This record gives sequence, structure tokens and C-alpha cells, in this order.
Amino acid sequence: MASDDLTIIDNRTGREYTVPIADGAIRAIDLRQIKVSEDDFGLLSYDPSFDNTASCRSAITFIDGDKGILRHRGYPIDQLAEKSTFLEVAYLLLYGELPTSKELETWTQTLHNHTFVHENIRKLMDGFHPDAHPMGMLLSGVGALSTFYPDGKNVHNEESRELQILRALGKMPTLAAFAHRHREGLYYVYPDNELSYAGNFLNMLFKMGEVQYKPNPVMERALDVLFILHADHEQNCSTNAMRSIGSSDPDPYVSLAGAIGALYGPLHGGANEAALHMLERIGSKDNVNSFIKGVKAGEERLMGFGHRVYKNYDPRAKIIRSTMEQVFAVTGRNPLIDIAIELERIALEDDYFVTRRLYPNVDFYSGIIYQAMGFSVDMYPVLFAIARTAGWLAQWREMHADSATRIARPRQIYSGSLERPFVPVAQRNGK
Ligand code: CMC
Repeated sequence: MASDDLTIIDNRTGREYTVPIADGAIRAIDLRQIKVSEDDFGLLSYDPSFDNTASCRSAITFIDGDKGILRHRGYPIDQLAEKSTFLEVAYLLLYGELPTSKELETWTQTLHNHTFVHENIRKLMDGFHPDAHPMGMLLSGVGALSTFYPDGKNVHNEESRELQILRALGKMPTLAAFAHRHREGLYYVYPDNELSYAGNFLNMLFKMGEVQYKPNPVMERALDVLFILHADHEQNCSTNAMRSIGSSDPDPYVSLAGAIGALYGPLHGGANEAALHMLERIGSKDNVNSFIKGVKAGEERLMGFGHRVYKNYDPRAKIIRSTMEQVFAVTGRNPLIDIAIELERIALEDDYFVTRRLYPNVDFYSGIIYQAMGFSVDMYPVLFAIARTAGWLAQWREMHADSATRIARPRQIYSGSLERPFVPVAQRNGK
């Protein structure tokens, strides 16, 4: 008869165990009872990159990787990208519902009270080399907020958590823009709270001599859509870092700094920067075939392709392709798009990519659109980080409200020497 449990027979001992199944999962701790002897520690599950391990329960984002589905709080990503704004999506991720117009207005106004940073942050930025990567500057700037807001440590106080969320969301674009301006050797531009979230960010990046910066509405909307597409993606590497660091109860700024560090790598949020450099290196459609040959020979990866969860076209990449046309209508066509389209065409017909189910991900086309919009290449992961801050904070908020949360502390399979006598340095013979 069918029942919601799993029977395990341990062939080492012939013993049988029954463990409950809930939500399509067994609890790994239920395996601990499976022992060969009284002093055996018990069975562990080994899952070095969390391939098949749920680390939390979450109601924020749903992905069906086989079908190419991404939904936030039940709303499909294409509808959010088409019909809402980044701040609406951030609110949705954080609080579970789309805001009413009154709620959105109040929340946006409150957020505007938190866009400015302490003047000492300027001094921090001034300390970086002129060619410092803006992701390192952003990470340091967010980490520094920990020292400006010691009340952020009150993580068990809901009111304090809400305040830190507003501060972090409000200040992230300001820190990112200061990093960019420092590198360009330009004066820092303060937030203009009359502008939208994306519009103000463009203002802080690109304002020059004008009294009031007026963002191009197509660019402003395109950036807002790109922010929506990057806002959350359930338990990815950086979100896992956010939750893992957050589980020891530090303020959220240090967790955000850790999450930015995780995002920075070329396999995650740094892939947009790496993909753009790859396209520039390929240089022309004529070189695509030989490049793909190198990828198949294992010489390098096709950046912007493949995903741990999506085994189908990343729905975010589809939306970026359509947004790109609107941007190109204003900026002119980025010639790298032809190389990217050819790469995609050849890869999607090639057995290597087909059998491994490797499709373009969000980072394949995003760099091309960012370049057309005038962002410098090393700002691409920074743009990702600004948007993902909404998701990181929503996941951090959810984690703190979850009574199942305990400090993250994975197990290991120890593979070193069991016990050895200590040898004093003078007696070690170099073996
Ligand atoms: N180019 C060439 N081969 C690839 C690629 C790629 N981009 N991605 C995966 N493979 C191959 C890989 O070599 C392996 O082949 P084999 O079975 O022969 O060893 C197979 O496909 C499975 O790959 P994997 O490394 O086990 O897959 P993963 O789930 O551990 O890695 C990934 C996922 C995203 C890190 C990987 O696909 C990758 O490195 N892609 C390029 C970097 C990239 O675009 N990252 C952005 C991800 S989307 C944005 C985000 O949310 O982070």
C-alpha cells in the first residue's frame, strides 16, 4: 500500500529503516540512525555542491528548470518584467504581495530617506586604486556599512531588520555609482530622489554638467527590466552565502558583502563580464566555429551558457533579447550581437551542448545590452549585485522568520590521517 515514507535496507547489516517523506524530501538527519555498530556515527549524505540537497524552505521564488519557468511569489517573470517595476518586484519578494499604489508610494518615499551615505564612505572610496574593480569597491562599501549601523546587529528585532533592509536597498546604487565615478576620476553625484530607482542610478553614474539629469526613458525602463530579471533566483551560490553567513546572526551588511563575493565569480554573476570579454576575443562570426571547437576540447567554457537548474532556455535570457531591440533602437546595434547569435545557433545544433542540455543563461546577452547602454564592462556584475540585493534581503528576512533556522554547519567526510605522533621541527627529515 502507498505511504509517504521510504524503506531503506542497509545491506551491510540487513536492517530495515523507514523514514518519512514530506514535500518530496527525506530529512537527511533521519539517515543518522543507520549504523553498522553502536559507536558508528551514522550515515551521512554526501553532496559537495548541493546538487540534491534542499537547505531551507522558501516561498519566494519557484523555478522549474526543465520547463524554463521562473516565478516570484507565483507571478511569472515575463509578466513582472513587462508590467511592473523593480521596486514593485523588490516589495513582492520581501513581503509576499504586490504593493497597492498607496503602499508602493509610501515604501518608495521611505526608501528615498535611505539613499544617501555617510560622507566617510566617500573617503573609503577615495582610498582605492584608480583602476580598482568596482565589485571589490562595492563589497567593501557594503561591508563598511556594518560599522556605520551597529544597530544592524539586532537581527532578532523585526523593526530593526526592516530598517536595515531599507538602508541596504537604498544605498546599494549609491555605493555602486561612487565606485564607478571614482574609477572614472569624476566627482561623486548624490542621489536625486525625484527620479526612479533606475533613473537615479543612471543619474549618479552619468550626470556631468547639467543642473538636473534626465534619464532617457528607454534606458531607464531597460535598466529597470534588467534589475527585475536579476532580482532573485532562489538558492543560488550568492543567496546560499547570504543565508549561510546570516545564520550566525551578524548584521545584514556583512552577509551582503559575503553574497557579493560569491556573486563576483565568473561562474555566477561575473559571467556577464566574462561573456562580453569572450565575445570581444572571438572578434568575428568567422571565428565562432574554431572557438566552439576549443570549448568542446575542454580548453575553456562558453560563458553565458549552461545552468545548474535550467536544462532549458533561461526565461530571463529570452526577455533580455527582446529588451535589447528597444535599446538598440536608441543606441544603435552593438556588433557583438551578431557573434552572440551565431554562437547560440551553432551551440544549440551541436551534440556537445544538446546532450548536456546547455542553453543561453541570463548572462549571455546581458553584457551586450549593458555595453550598448554605456556601462563599462567591469560594472556588469555590479549591476547584477544591485538587483540581487532585493532577493538576498528577502531570503535573509525569510530566514530570520523561520523557526527551523539554525547556524549553517555542513558535515564533511574526513579524508586525512586519523592520528599521528607529533615530530619536533628539528627531527623532521623533509619527507
Ligand atoms: N561551456 C562548456 N561546457 C559546459 C558549460 C559551458 N558554459 N557549462 C557546463 N558545461 C559542461 C561541463 O563541462 C560538464 O561536461 P562533462 O559532463 O563532460 O564534464 C557538463 O556540461 C555539466 O557541467 P557542470 O559544470 O557539472 O554544471 P554545473 O551545474 O556544475 O555548472 C554553471 C553550472 C553555470 C557553473 C556552468 O554551466 C558554467 O560554468 N557556465 C558558464 C558560466 C556562466 O554562464 N555562469 C552564469 C550562470 S547564470 C547566472 C547566475 O545566476 O549565476
